Parts: sequence; structure tokens; C-alpha cells
Amino acid sequence: MEEPHTGERGGRVCITIIGAGTIGLSFAALHLSQRPNAEVTIYDTRPELEAYVYDNLSASSPRAFTEEQIRDLFTSKRLRLASSLSEAVRSADIVQEQGPENESFKTHIWEKIEQDASPTCLFWSSTSGIPASKQAVNMKSKSRLLVVHPYNPPHIMPLLEIVPSPETDPVIVQRTLDYWKHSGRVPVVLGKETVGFVANRLAFALLREAISLVNEGVASPQDIDQIVENSMGPRWMVAGPFKSYHAGGGAGGLQSFFDNIGGTVQDCWDDSGKVNMGEAWEGPLCEEVQRTYGKRDPVELQERSELTKLLLSTRESHNAE
Ligand SMILES: *[C@@H]1O[C@H](CO)[C@@H](O)[C@H](O)[C@H]1NC(C)=O
Ligand SMILES: *[C@@H]1O[C@H](CO)[C@@H](O)[C@H](O)[C@H]1NC(C)=O
Repeated sequence: MEEPHTGERGGRVCITIIGAGTIGLSFAALHLSQRPNAEVTIYDTRPELEAYVYDNLSASSPRAFTEEQIRDLFTSKRLRLASSLSEAVRSADIVQEQGPENESFKTHIWEKIEQDASPTCLFWSSTSGIPASKQAVNMKSKSRLLVVHPYNPPHIMPLLEIVPSPETDPVIVQRTLDYWKHSGRVPVVLGKETVGFVANRLAFALLREAISLVNEGVASPQDIDQIVENSMGPRWMVAGPFKSYHAGGGAGGLQSFFDNIGGTVQDCWDDSGKVNMGEAWEGPLCEEVQRTYGKRDPVELQERSELTKLLLSTRESHNAE
């Protein structure tokens, strides 16, 4: 495999994680387990950071690091904690930020990071909503920053939405793609900055229609979940909507699908619900879901993650055959 072009020196790639919440640690675990040449520095202002990392890195790792493995990572300096932002970024090849979703926080931190980081360092933000063009306003060189938005949790879900600003240098985008393609991920570059990027928009469009159908008394929340889990869920894991409906049209492809079914599609669109947040449905729906599924159960969540990983790895080995 061709070596990725990420500004790696002496075969190493130094990644600084800013913000060690769930997403930050999930990315740290991903870099450490997917890239034997990765050295990860974590910067976070929370107290007792080392104890926190011991407690939580194991839980977020694809390989589930044991306490001993974490100790080895620290001893071998593949994992470090930085005590200041400038120390954290000084020798980084990549700075990956997952601080609070606060525009003013992000514009300030990138301005500071830019002062201390090397001129070739890549700057990635995990934001789910603040575009790189807004985050970069105080930077001297706005061409270095882009959004790398995970579909949570990043150590399980392969997708990364790569969202450059109009000023991001295409070379920076390419280096970012190279890094992730060599780390077993599926990066997709978006053509322009857009509210919510793409994966969440698609999911939230479905969510809106699901809520509307519950409101109309067509199906219960549990019914909707069963319908999704037993139809488009598995289908879309194998072939997305365009690939699926193109096949669904037979020899004539997507055009035939539209010619045959387009009227029904249009009827569904015309009838689709326009629910909005804060309306009267919200309280009763949340109560019904709570009654149906009860409290968040960590064991069940862990099992769900394991099953998702198993399905993804089955697909991967099948596709490799
Ligand atoms: C970190 O681990 C501790 C101990 O297991 C746990 O109480 C805490 O909720 C974890 N924090 C996060 C952000 O997952
Ligand atoms: C956002 O960040 C700024 C600067 O770091 C801070 O002053 C402000 O209180 C933050 N806002 C919120 C809502 O947390």
C-alpha cells in the first residue's frame, strides 16, 4: 500500500486531540489502533486527566485497550498528555479539535493553535454544525482548516464527512483523504458547506416523517423502528438509495423506477408531514418512547455496538472476496 502523504516525519504521524470527551477519546483510540506509526497527544482542561483517560479510553477503543496496554502506550510515548495548548500542538502533524459547539470558542482556539503549530500541520474540526469558513475567521492562513465530521462513534462508524471551506487548499483535502483511506475509514468530501452536512440531514428527514406518522396514528415508535430495522436499514447497509432504486428500475435503471413508481413517490412527498420542534407532539412522543424502551442501558448499548461492528466487518470481508 502506498504510504499516505500526511507530512509524517521519520515514519511517525503525531496527532493532537483537543478535547477528550467521548468523540475525542474515540478518535484517539482509532488513531492508536489503526495506525501503528501514530503518536497521540491529548489536550483537555478537565482535572485528573490521566485517571480519566485510563477509565475511558478502554471503553472507547475498537480493540478495547486494557489498563496495561494504556500504560504501555504512555511508556512508549505513543500516548501523551499535554499541559498547555501550545505544547500540545507544537510538534503535531495533525490537530483534531472536538471542543464545545461554540463559534467563539472555535475561532479563538484556531487562532492560538495556528501560532504554535508547524506550517504544514493539518487542522481538523469534528464539529457537527459550525462550518470551517466560520471557524477560520481569525486565522492568517484559512486554507489549512476543514471539517472532519464523524458519524458517532467514530471508532465504529466508517464514515467521515470531509467538509472544506471555499478557502481550504485542495492539497490539504487530499492529504486528509489519504490519511483516512489508510486508516480503514470511508471519507466523503462534500461539495459545499451546508447546514448539518449530509448524513444527519438524511437521517433527520427520515426522523421528521417518522414523527409525523406517529402523530397521525399510523404507527407507534416501536412499529417505526421495526419497519426500519427490517427493511431499508439492512438494504441501505449494502446499497444506498440511488444504487437501490437504480436496481429497482430493472434494465431501465433509475429512470424506469421513476416512470413506474414516480406517481407514488410524488403522492408520498405531497402527503409527508411537516412537524416542527417544540410543537405539542414532542412531550407525548418522548414519554411514549421512554415507556417503550425504558432507561438507557449501558450493557445493551455495548451489545448494540458489538453487533454493528460485527455487521460492518462481515460486509468488509464479504466485499474483499
Ligand atoms: C469515564 O469513566 C468513568 C469511570 O468509568 C465514568 O464514570 C465516566 O462517565 C466516563 N466518562 C465519559 C465521558 O464517558
Ligand atoms: C463560548 O465561548 C466563549 C469564548 O471561549 C465564552 O466566552 C462563552 O461563554 C461561550 N459560550 C457558551 C454559551 O458557552
